[in-house]
Amino acid sequence: MSIRLQNCLAAGATALLSLIGLAAVSFAQDADMAALIEAGKPIYDTNCASCHATNGRGDIGPSLISNGKLRNAEFVVRQITQGGDEMPGFSSSLSDEEIRAVATYVMNSWRNEYGPVP
Ligand code: HEC
Repeated sequence: MSIRLQNCLAAGATALLSLIGLAAVSFAQDADMAALIEAGKPIYDTNCASCHATNGRGDIGPSLISNGKLRNAEFVVRQITQGGDEMPGFSSSLSDEEIRAVATYVMNSWRNEYGPVP
C-alpha cells in the first residue's frame, strides 16, 4: 500500500470517527434535554402555573408563549432564582437542578425552542 493511500485512509477514518463522536454528543444532549423537560413540567405545574397558567398564556405573570426573552438562559434562571417585583424567588424552595429543569421546560414549550439550560 502506498504511503499516500495509507494517509488518505487514516484521514477518512479520523473524519468518520469524529462524525460518530458528534452524533453521540448531540444524542446525549437531546436525551438530557428530554429528561430536563420531563422533570420540569410537574415543577412548573406546581410552582408557576398559578401565575403563568398551565398552558403558559399568563395571568398574574406575563405570557410565556413565543416569548423571545426566554432565549436568554441566564435571564430565565435569574428570574426563577431571584424573582422579580411580583414574582417570588425560588432559590430556597427549588434545588439548582430543579431550577435548571423548569427553566428548560419553559424555554422549550409553547413555541419556544431555545434548547437546554447549559
Ligand atoms: C406569584 C405569581 C408568580 C409565580 C408563582 C411565578 N411567576 Fe414568573 N412572573 C410573575 C410576574 C408578575 C412576572 C413579571 C416580572 C415581575 O414582576 O416579577 C414574572 C416573570 C417571569 C418570567 C420573565 C418573563 C418575561 O417576559 O419577562 C419568567 C421566565 C417566569 N416568570 C417564569 C416563572 C417560573 C418558571 C415560575 C415557577 C418556578 C414562575 N415564573 C412563578 C409572576 C409569577
